[in-house]
Amino acid sequence: MNDSISDYDRLGGDAAFEPLLRDFYFTRLAASPLASLFPPDLDETYRKQLAFQRMYWGGRDDYTPWRGHPRMRARHLPFPIDPAAAATWMACMSAAVIDSAIPPEWREPFLARLNLIAQAMINQHAPPASPLG
Ligand code: HEM
Repeated sequence: MNDSISDYDRLGGDAAFEPLLRDFYFTRLAASPLASLFPPDLDETYRKQLAFQRMYWGGRDDYTPWRGHPRMRARHLPFPIDPAAAATWMACMSAAVIDSAIPPEWREPFLARLNLIAQAMINQHAPPASPLG
């Protein structure tokens, strides 16, 4: 494998990520129950996510100079994120990936890695079921 090619390029680069993340925020997430957590105008959120993903997958890093260290879990603490919220986020992303230019062979590993991050963002847990039934 050619090491000069980043995972970001393998996943399709800006040509794949820009439409993917537009679809994710403006079509899927905006119509989901998560929309109320986000600012009404999702344009800046989209631009943060695009810069984050480009950096995260080894492409150009415009994120850190702009936003500082990602500190993803800390940045998500102000928002109540339970397992259902993480599942909804992933459902929006999975649907967007199906309609995207991400190469088919990379879709599963891409979503699996995002799911690890999504699970780590969970900061609200339902109490365990009562042992008394
Ligand atoms: C688990 C479900 C998730 C929920 C409910 C959620 C929710 C949010 C909310 C409400 C914001 C603030 C919007 C804004 O700053 O414009 C945000 C910001 C952000 N989220 Fe998430 N998020 C989730 C998962 C993820 C995952 C999996 C990633 C990365 C793959 C991610 C990456 C980001 C980034 C990069 C920002 C912008 C941070 C910054 O201020 O620079 N989020 N998220």
